Amino acid sequence: MNITIVNGPNLNLLGEREPEIYGSESLSEINSWIENHEVCTSLTLEFFQSNSEGAIIDFIHSKRRDIDYLIINPGALTHYSYALRDAIVATQLKAIEVHLSDIHNRENFRKISVIKGVCLAQYYGKGKHGYITAIKHILEKK
Ligand code: DQA
Repeated sequence: MNITIVNGPNLNLLGEREPEIYGSESLSEINSWIENHEVCTSLTLEFFQSNSEGAIIDFIHSKRRDIDYLIINPGALTHYSYALRDAIVATQLKAIEVHLSDIHNRENFRKISVIKGVCLAQYYGKGKHGYITAIKHILEKK
């Protein structure tokens, strides 16, 4: 099974960025932790990060025939990007939304996800473990 994990704007700064909220590990440390996790043994994983909405949408389009599932932490795009939402619908990709922080217990604007309605599930507030929860969701539903 092919799963692509996409991280959006500012997630390249994990480890430096508000560590009290997002933790002290870098994105590459988190990605290799995921890759080496026991639940991923039989999976083909690919990772992508961009700070650009257009680059993320182009990437999702390019993967539409190649992957079984998309796991996406869209960063702040979560809260306003109808273009990203449309891309998930247009590609018919099965997607799961993940957030490191508890978006429902922060500023009000973070409680709104325009992506949630086109995803199979939304996981939040579990740090890097949220990505594994998303993978387990996929493995249980397949
Ligand atoms: C985030 C939450 C978003 O509100 C924020 O803009 C991010 C990270 C998270 O992983 O908790 O960039 O998606």
